[in-house]
Amino acid sequence: MNRVIEASVEIMIPNKNPCCQKSGAKVTTSATIHPGSFSDPRAMRSTGVMKHYQVKNINSGAVFTVNEGESILSAALRQGVMLPYSCKNGTCGSCKGKLESGDVHYPFHPPLALNREEIGEGCALLCQAEPTEDLEIRVREIEAVRDLQVRKMPARVIEKSLLAADVMRLKIKLPSAQRLQFLAGQYLEILLPEDKRRAFSIASAPHSEDIIELHIRHVEGGGFTGWVFDELKVRDILRLEAPLGTFFVRNDRPERPMIMMGGGTGFAPLKSMIEDLLSHNDKRPLHLFWGARNLDELYMHEQAQQWADENPHIQFSSAVMEPANDGARATFDGYVHEAVLQQYPDLSGFDIYMSGPPAMVDTGRAAFIENGAKERRIFFDSFEFGLDVPVRVLAKSH
Ligand SMILES: Cc1cc2nc3c(=O)[nH]c(=O)nc-3n(C[C@H](O)[C@H](O)[C@H](O)COP(=O)(O)OP(=O)(O)OC[C@H]3O[C@@H](n4cnc5c(N)ncnc54)[C@H](O)[C@@H]3O)c2cc1C
Ligand code: FES
Repeated sequence: MNRVIEASVEIMIPNKNPCCQKSGAKVTTSATIHPGSFSDPRAMRSTGVMKHYQVKNINSGAVFTVNEGESILSAALRQGVMLPYSCKNGTCGSCKGKLESGDVHYPFHPPLALNREEIGEGCALLCQAEPTEDLEIRVREIEAVRDLQVRKMPARVIEKSLLAADVMRLKIKLPSAQRLQFLAGQYLEILLPEDKRRAFSIASAPHSEDIIELHIRHVEGGGFTGWVFDELKVRDILRLEAPLGTFFVRNDRPERPMIMMGGGTGFAPLKSMIEDLLSHNDKRPLHLFWGARNLDELYMHEQAQQWADENPHIQFSSAVMEPANDGARATFDGYVHEAVLQQYPDLSGFDIYMSGPPAMVDTGRAAFIENGAKERRIFFDSFEFGLDVPVRVLAKSH
């Protein structure tokens, strides 16, 4: 895998999904941060004899084995222990857990979504951390995705259509006799040469059977998304792995109303969730907020408005950064999380689902917790770049 190792970098890291709620801090990576140091992977791998470490999750009692050179998250997923995750590249913070005993190191790059204080308090990023001894950890486990089989499969592009100037809708069809079982909100990865992968949320609902819809934003300078816009043709074959991720609607507290907040193509997994809820006649109150730079980027505004018009339990609000100049649509001028807070100054009673740009997710999380939201009732997918994108690119805001 073409991952970049940078031995000494100094970066400002926003605080994300803390297991310890401290603000962002400057982290200088070095070989001496404990627990959870950043060390040269070649040194760890030169021992010749494969080591194995036992990890126990104190929260659930689950015990699993991690091979030398394997992340705690990969080992857990391989053995059916479903830990939360999203980006798998150390930037979103979804996989954060607490080390109760034992130590880990970070062979590939520093734990971007942890600050020094959190490391000192025993927090670890389980998608990046590898044990250096047996561990006891504390981390929330996901029940509902445990039984879904993650598979690699080919899929044929059957539709490619522009939804906005920089958003492409792809419809892809699985081979006949193949069905993809997934939970609304999950994502897939397109498998590319040289072990590269690109993550995209599934925009269609699970009941749409063998046809999967994706909403792909053209990233400036982006290799894959540029190729999708310029070269990919209908009938081409893509290879993918799915279903992935732990972003899905929780049903354990059905009395709690939901707020869904999407930024740009962050609308895609929320669309899947809403279509799925509607198909199950789920009448939980739901308020969808969709934010973008301008009205054009609210590329399925009519669809969202239609859900609200036809279903009394659904509300829809939009927010744009650039002045709207469109009397027909009532939009909030500003950040989408501000639109949420304007209508819901007390968020303590809500389950919150967020997807879209990392900056929106980070800002939203912090602001919502400040306004009463319970951290464990905030669920999100942060649209980070691929694993092979260098640390210095991941570290800057995008
Ligand atoms: C769980 C999840 C779900 C997602 N769902 C969606 C979705 O539904 N829709 C969607 O549009 N997006 C989604 N994303 C984001 C999507 O995965 C990224 O936009 C995509 O990976 C970009 O791929 P790319 O190959 O086009 O860009 P890349 O080639 O990876 O480039 C990314 C950025 O890094 C820069 N860059 C790359 N390499 C270098 C280098 N060597 N030096 C300096 N700069 C460099 C590029 O210029 C560009 O700005 C999701 C992400 C995640 C993690
Ligand atoms: S930081 Fe580990 S899954 Fe995102």
